Amino acid sequence: MVQFLPSTPLLFFSLSVLPHVLAGGPTTSTALRACQKLSALNPPPLLGLPGSAQFNNDTALSGLNAQQNATCSIEPRSAQELVSIFKIINETRSPWAAKGNGHNYNKGFASTTGVQIALQQMRSFSYDPVRKTASFGPGNAWSDVFPQIEAHGAMFAGGRIAGVGVSGLATGGGYSYKSNQFGLVSDNIVQYELVTYTGEILNVTSTSHPDLFFGLQGGLNNFGIVTKFTMATYPQSLVQGTVLIVPAENLTALAHAIINFSQRVTDGKADINPVFMYAGGKITGFVYLLYDGPNIPGGVFDDFIALGAQFKQQTFSEYVDSSSAVLGGSVSRQGLQQWAPTGYNMDLLNRKHGQIATTNRSGLALYMTTEWFLPTTFSYGSDAGRPSAYPHSKSNPWNPANVGAAWDDPADDKYFNDLLTQLAGDMQAASVAEGLSSPNAIFYPNYVLPNTPLTRMYGGNVDVLAKISKKWDPGHMLSLTGGFLFAN
Ligand SMILES: Cc1cc2nc3c(=O)[nH]c(=O)nc-3n(C[C@H](O)[C@H](O)[C@H](O)COP(=O)(O)OP(=O)(O)OC[C@H]3O[C@@H](n4cnc5c(N)ncnc54)[C@H](O)[C@@H]3O)c2cc1C
Ligand SMILES: *[C@@H]1O[C@H](CO)[C@@H](O)[C@H](O)[C@H]1NC(C)=O
Ligand SMILES: *[C@@H]1O[C@H](CO)[C@@H](O)[C@H](O)[C@H]1NC(C)=O
Ligand SMILES: *[C@@H]1O[C@H](CO)[C@@H](O)[C@H](O)[C@H]1NC(C)=O
Ligand SMILES: *[C@@H]1O[C@H](CO)[C@@H](O)[C@H](O)[C@H]1NC(C)=O
Ligand SMILES: *[C@@H]1O[C@H](CO)[C@@H](O)[C@H](O)[C@H]1NC(C)=O
Ligand SMILES: *[C@@H]1O[C@H](CO)[C@@H](O)[C@H](O)[C@H]1NC(C)=O
Ligand SMILES: *[C@@H]1O[C@H](CO)[C@@H](O)[C@H](O)[C@H]1NC(C)=O
Repeated sequence: MVQFLPSTPLLFFSLSVLPHVLAGGPTTSTALRACQKLSALNPPPLLGLPGSAQFNNDTALSGLNAQQNATCSIEPRSAQELVSIFKIINETRSPWAAKGNGHNYNKGFASTTGVQIALQQMRSFSYDPVRKTASFGPGNAWSDVFPQIEAHGAMFAGGRIAGVGVSGLATGGGYSYKSNQFGLVSDNIVQYELVTYTGEILNVTSTSHPDLFFGLQGGLNNFGIVTKFTMATYPQSLVQGTVLIVPAENLTALAHAIINFSQRVTDGKADINPVFMYAGGKITGFVYLLYDGPNIPGGVFDDFIALGAQFKQQTFSEYVDSSSAVLGGSVSRQGLQQWAPTGYNMDLLNRKHGQIATTNRSGLALYMTTEWFLPTTFSYGSDAGRPSAYPHSKSNPWNPANVGAAWDDPADDKYFNDLLTQLAGDMQAASVAEGLSSPNAIFYPNYVLPNTPLTRMYGGNVDVLAKISKKWDPGHMLSLTGGFLFAN
C-alpha cells in the first residue's frame, strides 16, 4: 500500500489534468467532482490517482476482463470514513464500486469508471472466547483470518482457496470445507456491521434488523457495505488433506470414484472438490480432498487412494495454503457459470469429458468443477428457521457445479462468455433430463455470468429483496454501481 499524502495544490493539479488523460463525458465529470471532494476529507484520506501504485492495487482484480479504469481510488480505514465517502458519492452522483479482495470475475461488480472503494485497510481480527465468535474486517482474505482463528484452536466456515476475499464470498452465500457440517458461510454469521446507503453504521443481527439480516445472506452489495463480519466458530483439530492429480488415462476411474463417493459417503467431515481441467491440449483431473479430523476413517477415500492420493496430516490453514498453490488464484481473463445437479452419474460425467475439450482459442484453461456437498449443507437456512436472500433447503440440494475458463486475448471475451453459457447450459439441461436437477434450480450468485436473471439466483425472494433494498437506498446510490441489483 502506498499512501498518497499530497499537498493540496499537487492533488488539485493532478485532478485538473485528468480530463485530458481520460475520455471526457458525464461520468468523468461527476467522478472528478467526487474525487476532488474526497481529497478534501479530514483526516486526509488514502486516495489513489491513476498511475500510482495504490491506484493500481486498488483497481486490480483477478479477472482482468472485469477490470476498469477508475477516476480515483480510496481506501477507507473505518466505517465512519466510509460514511463520509458515501455522502460524497450520493451528492456528486459519481459511479462507484466496492472491492473486497477482487475475486469476482464480472465487470462492474467490484470495478467502476468512477470512485473505486478498496476495503483492504479493514483487516481487523478478534476472537471472543466467551461467545466463541470471531469478528473480522472485509479487507481480509479467508487465508488471512484462518491462521488467526486457528491459533485459538478454532475455525469458522470460509472459502477454500487462498486469496479469495471474505467480503464477496460471505455476502454472496459461501461454500466452505465446513459446509457439510455447518452450512453455508452466510448461515454462520451472527452479526454484520453495515454502512448503509442511508449513511448509518448499524450492527445488524437477526433481531435488530431482520430485513437487512435476511438480505445480507446472499444479497451482496444491495443493502450497504459490510465493514465487519462476526461468525460462529468451532473447535479445530488437525486435518488430513491432499490434492490428487489424475492423468487423462485414469479419468474414467476418477468419475467412478466421484459417483461412488457422492452416493455412499455421509460423513460430513469428508470433502471432495473435483476439477476436470483442459489445458495444454489435454484433460487432467485435480481433486481437492480434505478430511476434517486428524485421521481418515476406513473406506471414506479408498477410491481416491487407489488413484494415488497421498494424504498428509496438517493444520487446516496449512491445507488451504498448500492446496491453493496447486491451481488457485491465477490472474488472467476469467469467467464462471454454474449448473446445479443434486447428484452425479456416469452419463453426466462422460458428457463433461467431451464438453470441455472444445477450444483452441487464446484459452489457457477450460474446466468443469463437480463440487459435491451433502444435503446437510443446505439445511441451515430456512429449514433451520433462518431464511436468507439466497434460498437453500435440504429438499433441493442443488450443488454449485460449474464451468470456468481462463484466457488471454480481449478479443475472445465474447467467445468464452458464449462458450461458458453453452457448456453450463448443456450440463444443466442434461442434469434435468437425468432427473438430477430441476428447470427452476437456484444458482449461486458468486458462480454465474453477469447476465444471469435475478430469479435464477433468488427465486421467489426477488420482490421482497427489491422492497428492502429500495427502503435502505433512498438516494439511489445503487443506480451508480454494478452487481446483481434488485432495486434498479
Ligand atoms: C480462485 C477462486 C476460488 C473460489 N472459491 C470459492 C469457494 O470455495 N467458495 C465460494 O463460495 N466461492 C468461491 N469463489 C467465488 C467467490 O465467492 C467470489 O469470487 C467472491 O466474489 C470473492 O469475494 P471477494 O471479496 O474477493 O470479491 P470482490 O470481487 O472484491 O467483490 C465481489 C462482490 O461483492 C461485493 N462486495 C465486496 N465487498 C463487500 C462488502 N464488504 N459488503 C457488501 N458487498 C461487498 C462487491 O460489490 C462485488 O459485487 C472462488 C473464486 C475464485 C476466483
Ligand atoms: C495490494 O496491497 C495489499 C497490501 O496492502 C496486498 O496484500 C495485496 O496483495 C495487493 N494487491 C495487489 C493486486 O497487488
Ligand atoms: C485504462 O487506460 C489505459 C490508458 O489509457 C488503457 O491502455 C487501458 O486499456 C485501459 N484499461 C481498461 C480496462 O479500460
Ligand atoms: C443520499 O441522499 C438521500 C436523499 O436523496 C438521503 O436520504 C440519504 O441518506 C443519502 N445517503 C447518504 C449516504 O448520504
Ligand atoms: C456494534 O457492536 C459492537 C460490539 O459487538 C460495539 O462495540 C459497537 O459499539 C456497536 N456499534 C453500533 C453502531 O452499535
Ligand atoms: C465405494 O465406496 C465405498 C465406501 O465409501 C468403498 O468401500 C468402496 O471400496 C468404493 N468402491 C467401489 C468400487 O465400490
Ligand atoms: C490408471 O491408468 C493406468 C494406465 O492405463 C492403469 O495401469 C492403472 O491401473 C490406472 N489406475 C487406476 C486406479 O484406475
Ligand atoms: C482451431 O482453430 C483453427 C483456426 O482458427 C480452426 O480451423 C479449427 O477448427 C479449430 N479447432 C477446434 C477444435 O476448435
